[in-house]
Amino acid sequence: MDHFEYRGGVLHAEDVPLPAIAAEVGTPVYVYSRATLTRHARVFRDALAVLPKVHLAFAVKSNPNLAVLKVLAAEGYGADVVSAGEMDRALAAGIPAADVVFSGVGKTAAEMRRALEAGCGQFNLESEEEGQELAEIAHAMGLTATATLRINPDVDAGTHAKISTGKAENKFGVPFDRAAGIYGRLSALPGLNLRGLALHIGSQLARLDPLEAAFIKAGSLMRAIRAEGFAVTHMDLGGGVGVPYRAGEVYPQPDEYAAMIARVTDGWDATLMFEPGRVITGNTGVLLTEVVRVKAGALHPWVVVDAAMNDLARPAMYDAWHDFSAVKPGGTRMTANIVGPICESSDTFAMARDIDTVARGDLAVFRTAGAYGATMANTYNSRPMVPEVMVDGGRWAVVADRIEPATILSAERVPEWLE
Ligand code: LLP
Repeated sequence: MDHFEYRGGVLHAEDVPLPAIAAEVGTPVYVYSRATLTRHARVFRDALAVLPKVHLAFAVKSNPNLAVLKVLAAEGYGADVVSAGEMDRALAAGIPAADVVFSGVGKTAAEMRRALEAGCGQFNLESEEEGQELAEIAHAMGLTATATLRINPDVDAGTHAKISTGKAENKFGVPFDRAAGIYGRLSALPGLNLRGLALHIGSQLARLDPLEAAFIKAGSLMRAIRAEGFAVTHMDLGGGVGVPYRAGEVYPQPDEYAAMIARVTDGWDATLMFEPGRVITGNTGVLLTEVVRVKAGALHPWVVVDAAMNDLARPAMYDAWHDFSAVKPGGTRMTANIVGPICESSDTFAMARDIDTVARGDLAVFRTAGAYGATMANTYNSRPMVPEVMVDGGRWAVVADRIEPATILSAERVPEWLE
């Protein structure tokens, strides 16, 4: 459910007609609906309220915009971060450092130090080596780092290979059968307070059973580790719940997810931690674009839009589908290929797609672009960095400026010896 609806034949974000935003900000531009964001944050939070002890850490990578983080901070979300840059954003949004979980397979010593100084609530360790390094750094600073150990449960998440993270061949976590030994050794180190396990098997999961299988494995490991006399008080169950990208698709609902977790974790007696990203932000945004021209093609016309793979990378990277709708549909349909202006064939949003008929100058949106949209944008082909707008009822604001190529050029230097 979202708040992007047609009123009088014109697509609106809440009470704002999208052409009004395009006229002032230009295109392409991401448009977020605050009401949708708040709604998703609450539905997810309220669904998990059936569990005894819960900590929610929004996966900042899915949408790190400061205004988005502000809204989620007000809804009581902590943050799951994977870099010092993401941590700084979470703190700038007012999320308490104690509610920040630092994940990521390659935390540097400098990042560990900064996070410790800031009072970061938990590090999710990806290896024994990382745990030893964190322990040394914290000990030298006279601090104790709170941590969990990320396990690789070797479960197939059934999602796109590039966003699968829980199979033995993936780089994440420690091998399941070595985890108990590593847990014991790390628990003995001064400077480290190892308090639990973490896992995350992948993103855009269409079914709950791979998650359930992974949680069951994690639960048995938790019991084995406790049986050896070590404390396990926190279990970080990651993120990964998928969302529908095509009208009519059915995905697990937060209450079904919560019911499955309640069943699997019954009797665990641990704080359950979550790192949701897409399920909170996916539906909260669209990418608003203008049709540059419609070019005749061998099989189908090419609809060339002014958004490209640098603005929305998901179709090029993961063959992802994003519904495409005209802002002012005229009632007729066409079959077309939708592409951006970038000079490579991967800059393709859709092939042979049945869409609203569009012509040069028409506005259109790619839907469900609130997660892994702007955050993955870049400036390939020396295009601008795409701006972001947030709508709240009848008002709206630019929440990230368009960064012009001239600004980026101004950060480049020609060494003397090339002059
Ligand atoms: N926790 C960890 C440790 C993660 O690596 C991720 C996502 C999440 C939580 C959040 O997962 P979510 O709830 O959003 O599924 N760029 C890709 C998605 C990459 C996800 C990376 N990790 C895409 O556009 O589909």
